[in-house]
Formats: sequence, structure tokens, C-alpha cells
Amino acid sequence: MAAMNFAPISLRPPEFTFGNSNYRNSVTFIGKRRTISVSLAVNSQESAPVKPEIELEFIGPEAGGDGVYPVERATEISGEKLLRNIMLDNKIELYATYGKVMNCGGGGSCGTCIVEIIDGKDLLNERTNAELRYLKKKPESWRLACQTIVGNKENSGKVVVQRLPQWKK
Ligand code: FES
Repeated sequence: MAAMNFAPISLRPPEFTFGNSNYRNSVTFIGKRRTISVSLAVNSQESAPVKPEIELEFIGPEAGGDGVYPVERATEISGEKLLRNIMLDNKIELYATYGKVMNCGGGGSCGTCIVEIIDGKDLLNERTNAELRYLKKKPESWRLACQTIVGNKENSGKVVVQRLPQWKK
């Protein structure tokens, strides 16, 4: 039996479609008797795992003229961000006047990022050593936003945060 002798005659460069992450490539071989064409297609959207999310509500420090407390909202991937960074990234006010100028930048040493967790504390990390020192005699619902990790990469749910409470003013 004679060995088949194939030579690639068409090798197209890969086609990328960034909008929907499709990838296609094809190679055509032509032998003496037949032509073989192979195409590959991968859709990465179908195989990407869905990461759990944490929904957050931030209640303002004072009621408006109508007696209703303002609420701001954000949603983040579980376990990927500190509460402080979520608030800053979403332009949700965290610091009172003094803290805006004198905060420690998230080092856990100034205490200007205190918030109260109204609901969903089980979706957060345990108090860190910095919090155990700084918030030793404070209510368990108080947290330093710069030490608080929102979610653990596996859980999902809702966290309600009271921001800029009266004791910080
Ligand atoms: S920013 Fe200083 S303790 Fe959180």
C-alpha cells in the first residue's frame, strides 16, 4: 500500500471575534485522491463558570426631607474585594470630614472607615486582628471597611451597610 502524501495548501490565520469570544481556525489538506478540511470552533462563553455575587445596600446617615433614608446599591463578585474598595469604586461616601483627609489608606490603624453591618454579616470575613484591637469594646456589628472582605468566593446573598453613622461626625 502506498503511503498517502498530504501537503497543507491552505492555512488561514485564526479568526478572532472579540465581541462574543468565538475562536475559529481551519486547515485544508489536499492529497492525490481526496481533500480533507478540518474546522475548529470554540465558544468560551458556554464554558465560563458563573461566579457567585454579593448584593450590597448602603443606607445613608440621615433621612431626607421625606423621612426616608437614601439607599445606594452595588453588586460584586463574592470574595474579591474589600468593603472599603467597593465603596470607593462606586463613589459611595465612606469617610466623614476628618477621615477624608487623615485616613490611613486601608491599613487598619485609623478607625475612620467604621461602618455598621445591619444585615448579612455571615457573608463577610471574621474580624481581623486590627479590628479586634480597634473595635474591642464596640458592638459586634461594627466593622472597619478596610478590613472587611465581602464574600468568600463561594457564598452569595445580600449585605446591608449603615454608612457614616452619627458617632463619626
Ligand atoms: S482606612 Fe484606616 S482603619 Fe480603615
